[in-house]
Amino acid sequence: MNGGIDRRGESRGASGEVLSRIERLRRERNAVILAHNYQRPEVQDVADFVGDSLGLSQQAAATSADVIAFCGVHFMAETAAILSPQKTVLLPDLEAGCSLAGTITAAQLREWKAQHPGAVVVSYVNTTAEVKAESDYCCTSGNARAVIEAIPRDREILFLPDMYLGLWLERVTGRDLRIWLGECHVHAGIRPADIERWTNDAPEAELLVHPECGCASQAMAFANGRTKILSTEQMVRFAHDSPKERFLVATETGIIHRLEREVPGKRFEPVREDAVCRFMKTITLEKVRDSLRDGKHEVRVAPDVAARARGAIDRMLALG
Ligand code: 13P
Ligand code: SF4
Repeated sequence: MNGGIDRRGESRGASGEVLSRIERLRRERNAVILAHNYQRPEVQDVADFVGDSLGLSQQAAATSADVIAFCGVHFMAETAAILSPQKTVLLPDLEAGCSLAGTITAAQLREWKAQHPGAVVVSYVNTTAEVKAESDYCCTSGNARAVIEAIPRDREILFLPDMYLGLWLERVTGRDLRIWLGECHVHAGIRPADIERWTNDAPEAELLVHPECGCASQAMAFANGRTKILSTEQMVRFAHDSPKERFLVATETGIIHRLEREVPGKRFEPVREDAVCRFMKTITLEKVRDSLRDGKHEVRVAPDVAARARGAIDRMLALG
């Protein structure tokens, strides 16, 4: 699953020279560095803001910087480019894709819509700009439930592309959704048996589960009510506010660094050490430096696609 990448990151301990060059370039370019919670620890540490997909899109919409160096994956940089068309959005490595976003194309979605005329299309943020442009609403794991609940109950909903998130949404909203059968290879690999093993070994710990996990909807049922299904950002807030001292974390392991940094003194353990997204880990400090220095790789979205995709994103952001 992890392609041999250590969750702590291979380029940890980058030289002070790289860090001071990034610092200088950030000032000279009037740049902001945004990093997703799954980025390498040292990339999180150099960022101006670290967060989940929802928080990052809100930051991208609000920043006054001229340049956004986006340390995340391609669909996230595209979302930033859609929200801030007057800014330069840089992705330090174009290999930073997303296997989940790759499970549906705009042509496939058009075909699905044609089979369900009048249905409301809700697309998870892990989709290309072209797919968002075909959608009524965008959503993230942080607000997917609120988005579904904002749609009148008598409307048919096409939800895509993550089937585990879709199944969890059916469970918590009590709605029937038509669900695209896509999955994230990292989260799908976290299975009910991984959770079960931990709940037996560490019965006092709180279990934090991302809704993309292959075990999300089952975990709610079998962990005696002590499972929390949360976006990565919600995990940080929850751990901070909880009286518990020990947490088992079912998502990509990059979040452990953020949790340890922002909730010191508590114990965080990934339920699977190999739940590592190789796309997220392609970005290193050296690539952030090169990106700011050479203005690469600029992510742009065609204006007509951006305008239509923006409608779906704005409808999501309007829900808070
Ligand atoms: P979050 O929205 O929780 O940040 O998740 C994004 C993602 O890519 C999950 O794999
Ligand atoms: Fe995509 Fe999965 Fe990586 Fe998230 S963890 S960016 S969904 S491949």
